Amino acid sequence: MKELICELEENQALSKEKWERLIKNADQNVANFLFERAVVIRKKYYGNDIYIRGLIEFTNYCKNDCYYCGIRKANKNIERYRLTEQQIISCCEQGYDLGFRTFVLQGGEDGYFSDEKMCFLIQNIKKKFPDCAITLSIGEKTENAYQKYYNAGADRYLLRHETFDEAHYGMLHPALLSAKNRQKCLFELKNIGYQTGSGFMVGSPGQTPEHLAKDMLFLKKLNPHMVGIGPFIPHHDTRFKDEKAGTLFQTLFMLGLLRLMLPKTLLPATTALGTIAPEGRKLGVLAGANVVMPNLTPKDKRKQYSLYDHKRCMGDEAAEGLQLLKKEMREIGYQVIIDRGDSLVSNDN
Ligand code: 5AD
Repeated sequence: MKELICELEENQALSKEKWERLIKNADQNVANFLFERAVVIRKKYYGNDIYIRGLIEFTNYCKNDCYYCGIRKANKNIERYRLTEQQIISCCEQGYDLGFRTFVLQGGEDGYFSDEKMCFLIQNIKKKFPDCAITLSIGEKTENAYQKYYNAGADRYLLRHETFDEAHYGMLHPALLSAKNRQKCLFELKNIGYQTGSGFMVGSPGQTPEHLAKDMLFLKKLNPHMVGIGPFIPHHDTRFKDEKAGTLFQTLFMLGLLRLMLPKTLLPATTALGTIAPEGRKLGVLAGANVVMPNLTPKDKRKQYSLYDHKRCMGDEAAEGLQLLKKEMREIGYQVIIDRGDSLVSNDN
């Protein structure tokens, strides 16, 4: 397996068969070797710098019904909320004072936030914080809408492809949604000029090494500026409530592989990773990650943005816990950086 890791480091690519073999045969010994290489490569491009993004979960209304997701439309057991524009701006103000220079506006697919409302919001945030980047994470829209947000000042867009394989995608989503449309959206976003993030869940129900191999091949082709991955975690109000969560080991392993395949990409150590293990995010950094996204959402709403059970949102996961996060990063030899932390990936493929 170590030869495959060396081949990956050298070529930044593997065949589908080799991806599958490597993913299937991962063990701690191979993983240690992988993490060592991943850290060397990450340091080559990003040194010891860790970038932060302030996450603002501004609405948990969603018109979609993704089977794994706690805020899906059919879930009648959660309390829905929307932040007002003023509340969103004050999240940004607090974030700015703490040192954030990127705001990630994440929400369900909520029709209340029309394109006009979104553009108005983006323009206002940009006016107030011209030195900050705005990232949107609001799902599948038309190319025209993506263009409008971009023209209004949005810089980046996060949209996980979730899983490349169509049949597997169909197991996780209602028939209205398709893997193909997701992928189309991602290429459109990149074409428009967004710094684009994609990604997938690790250990989602029905996922096989072959699916993960396909995810890697797709991401190679897309060459995104960021790749967000985290373990699948069951939510008690979904059909997958009794499924097993993705493991810490497999998530870290996939992070290491992503770092070698896309050396310059931004790789967050995600909240889901921090949720399944107390040291999850630290370990993520030690496997090749270089971004963390602390939560800037008003405290009383964070629990309601319940994509999965037991989501961590206080302590080092919270924006106000930034000192703690900085200390944790220092302990493993890294420093949290105050700047926009733009990706080194260029936009031409
Ligand atoms: N477990 C882990 N991640 C989840 N997401 C949604 N539901 C879950 C879950 N149950 C992830 C999806 C989505 C991102 C915002 O959160 O990958 O793209």
